Amino acid sequence: MTANIIHLRDNADSALKQACDVLADGFPVAIPTETVYGLAADATNPLAVTRIYEAKGRPRFNPLICHMADLAMAEEYASFDAVSRRLAERFWPGPLTLILPLKPETAIHPLATAGLDTVGIRVPEGFASSLIRAFGRPLAAPSANTSGKVSPTSAQHVAEDLGDRLKLIIDGDAAPVGVESTIVRVEGETIRLLRPGGVSAEEIEAATGLPIVRAEGPAAIIEAPGMLASHYAPAAAVRLDVEALEPGEVLIRFGARPVTGEEKAAAVFNLSPSGDLAEAASNLFDYLKKADASGAQRIAVMRIPEHGLGEAINDRLARAAAPR
Ligand code: TXA
Ligand code: MG
Repeated sequence: MTANIIHLRDNADSALKQACDVLADGFPVAIPTETVYGLAADATNPLAVTRIYEAKGRPRFNPLICHMADLAMAEEYASFDAVSRRLAERFWPGPLTLILPLKPETAIHPLATAGLDTVGIRVPEGFASSLIRAFGRPLAAPSANTSGKVSPTSAQHVAEDLGDRLKLIIDGDAAPVGVESTIVRVEGETIRLLRPGGVSAEEIEAATGLPIVRAEGPAAIIEAPGMLASHYAPAAAVRLDVEALEPGEVLIRFGARPVTGEEKAAAVFNLSPSGDLAEAASNLFDYLKKADASGAQRIAVMRIPEHGLGEAINDRLARAAAPR
């Protein structure tokens, strides 16, 4: 099997129709979202969901995020407390996933939720939203990459990784946010951050007036089991908070401050020369892949500030650098 790649620029209507056909046949389709490319399949069809896991080579069943067209559709499947509803109204469509109690007897298949009584829901922007509306059912979609690899932010990334295992890839150019959605769970008067992502913790606190509690340690791993330490692993080793370059390294820069010895780098990528964290997030996975492809033994990364989207960037970098 070699994936057919359709560019939205060439024919958005045909892309929508062909994607609907593949979904209706029970197969996954790689689609652009504002965060990263997703591998989407009918969340109500157990065979279709199983095919997502097969294509990704996921070692076991993790709960997948179910993507909805809008809040009204989400409310057919999950129960919203007042704070979750406020977050949905403020940030959807957009890079926020809410963990919510699943309504009883919904059509979402337990394989998509790994049998949990909760479901992760997100309303994406753009083509993904049109597709869900046209298809009429929620789409389960993890990132469209082999399990444990860096998430794809372009159709080309998907094609290189999964092209021989998919029927269809929809090309919608570079994913504008570039890191996955923020995952939160509202628990009474607190909001638990299960994964930092495209909406910053500060924005969520400002929208609700409630404090964010960071999930750490084993509890976080059980609650968001996809978040294993060595996720997002490039082939090369990764060294963080670099101030001086060592021989054989490729450099990922941030901002204008120089790095000692950078003239010796095998290659240099700057996530954002002006120090803009949103720009840095959008370039992160592409530059990790390019740095990896340079053939250097190690990827050296400058320190990134921890505020705003920096929290999500540093989370992904820490996973990329984790021992494996
Ligand atoms: O931006 C994104 O969120 C992308 C795009 C495609 O939408 N999707 C994505 O999905 O990153 P995935 O499968 O790579 O990550 C889903 C994460 C996993 O860590 C999983 O454990 C967690 O969400 N998750 C899903 N349902 C959950 C639930 N009911 N309770 C706790 N964690 C859940
Ligand atoms: Mg993923």
